[in-house]
Amino acid sequence: MAFANFFLVLGCVFILSSRCIFGQSKRRNVLLIIADDAGFETEVYNNSAVRTPHLRALARRSVIFRNAFTSVSSCSPSRSTILTGLPQHQNGMYGLHQDIHHFSSFDGVRSLPLLLGQANIRTGIIGKKHVGPGEVYPFDFARTEENSSVLQVGRNITRIRLLVRDFLRVQEAQRPFFLYVAFHDPHRCGHSQPQYGPFCEKFGNGEAGMGRIPDWTPQHYTPEQVKVPYFIPDTPAARADLAAQYTTISRLDQGIGLVLQELREAGFENDTLVIYSSDNGIPFPNGRTNLYWSGTAEPMLVSSPEHRQRWGQESQAYVSLLDITPTILDWFNIPYPAYNLGKQPVQLTGRSLLPALISEQPWSTVFASQSLHEVTMYYPMRAVHQGPYRLVHNLNYKMPFPIDQDFYVSPTFQDLLNRTQGGRPTAWFKTLQEYYYRDRWELYDTRADPTESRNLASDPAHGPVLESLRAQLRKWQWATSDPWVCGPDAVLEAKLTPQCRPLFNGL
Ligand SMILES: *[C@@H]1O[C@H](CO)[C@@H](O)[C@H](O)[C@H]1NC(C)=O
Ligand SMILES: *[C@@H]1O[C@H](CO)[C@@H](O)[C@H](O)[C@H]1NC(C)=O
Ligand SMILES: *[C@@H]1O[C@H](CO)[C@@H](O)[C@H](O)[C@H]1NC(C)=O
Ligand SMILES: *[C@@H]1O[C@H](CO)[C@@H](O)[C@H](O)[C@H]1NC(C)=O
Ligand SMILES: *[C@@H]1O[C@H](CO)[C@@H](O)[C@H](O)[C@H]1NC(C)=O
Repeated sequence: MAFANFFLVLGCVFILSSRCIFGQSKRRNVLLIIADDAGFETEVYNNSAVRTPHLRALARRSVIFRNAFTSVSSCSPSRSTILTGLPQHQNGMYGLHQDIHHFSSFDGVRSLPLLLGQANIRTGIIGKKHVGPGEVYPFDFARTEENSSVLQVGRNITRIRLLVRDFLRVQEAQRPFFLYVAFHDPHRCGHSQPQYGPFCEKFGNGEAGMGRIPDWTPQHYTPEQVKVPYFIPDTPAARADLAAQYTTISRLDQGIGLVLQELREAGFENDTLVIYSSDNGIPFPNGRTNLYWSGTAEPMLVSSPEHRQRWGQESQAYVSLLDITPTILDWFNIPYPAYNLGKQPVQLTGRSLLPALISEQPWSTVFASQSLHEVTMYYPMRAVHQGPYRLVHNLNYKMPFPIDQDFYVSPTFQDLLNRTQGGRPTAWFKTLQEYYYRDRWELYDTRADPTESRNLASDPAHGPVLESLRAQLRKWQWATSDPWVCGPDAVLEAKLTPQCRPLFNGL
């Protein structure tokens, strides 16, 4: 016993694992909060126009990641990567899960909730699930759109607070838990429930016909007050759209406050790792469904009661939503199992973020992979962002970039279409023509060119950078068994030794 302890201590000294600093016996839980299509509309990320006091309070207890990215800019695929640590092309969730889109992860995927359940950790989900099949994503406690109204479990913050209370009430003292609260705010809803406004910002505000959410004090903004990011046209239509989005953000922010209050009142504040992020870029032009910065950059707060040394600090390290599964497994000290999907061995390419809670880390590379959003939106892209450079590979670059339904009917995009058709100024940073038709390779220096407007892929001076990024991207694609690794000019011959066989199609 004494010897075992001695070696444990030695191991800790040498490995310097975050866990060893505080010892093994402490109870540990996880609360993962994911917003729906949220971006940087918070003072935490220097948007002073919007009031988000609860996110600010959480940030004071967190490391604030300034360079966090999703690996895929689409809802179900992103949620599948959060809950598996595997990119969409590896876990099989190529596009949206619901209705006719019907994408699902492969049956053999060992997801985070599955692995946690096997380790006797109690799992719960409240809000938007949007992944399947059920056997791959099992939760002990589930209140989701699968058997409730998504408005209630995803936007009614009083209901969400009560569900969190229900989950925590029956929590046994010694059994750890993982609770995933997936808000549906601030997603658009004008396409499905136009009566509540473009962002459902009127749902539950107490006006006639809107119902009331008792715990919500709606915040109102005028179009003049909003901050228009560079990738959104600065037009009255877009400003009104953003003002509606901000009101919905106020519901998200107050909802986060309620969830954290429930956690505190149930006595779990000091042993629960809290992670806040979002699934993909905001639903505006150049945002969601794109692998540009504006489609992939995410807010990310990681709050550990055991790692207070960096509370309130910012990290510049590049981190990915693919890191969430490894982080949570590390927190619970659960190893990732060795297994295959088909014949391919599975390994996580993300990493635990816990070391970044102790000291700044030199991480500077993230990868991304997108295949579809809606079932009709086949537009495979692969990307790598390293230091200042982002490289995007558009495999089907001769096709026009596809547009999804709720974004299509949004006031911002309708106005952009109308202005383009009428030959009027769009006040946008690119043309629709440029947006639809992309080069096969796009290389941007995001420090010199933060709006990603100057493609350097054919600039000879950037040849070595291009080659190096292409090689790293390809290596990651092979490591993650990407079926698209040979496209668009070759076919993957997967039998025996996998290799790319040329098509001679002129690409
Ligand atoms: C907010 O702005 C300040 C001042 O420019 C900067 O130092 C800080 O890094 C910014 N924070 C974030 C999260 O962007
Ligand atoms: C949803 O399912 C859970 C069990 O998985 C059940 O306890 C709950 O009552 C269901 N809710 C509705 C509205 O059917
Ligand atoms: C929100 O949920 C609470 C508690 O279940 C309920 O009383 C209230 O009517 C709901 N509000 C709306 C707008 O559905
Ligand atoms: C959590 O820790 C803080 C500071 O150490 C303390 O003030 C608070 O009472 C603790 N909360 C619980 C529920 O133990
Ligand atoms: C489109 O623009 C015309 C003026 O060019 C305007 O009359 C019309 O209302 C606009 N439609 C929309 C949907 O914005």
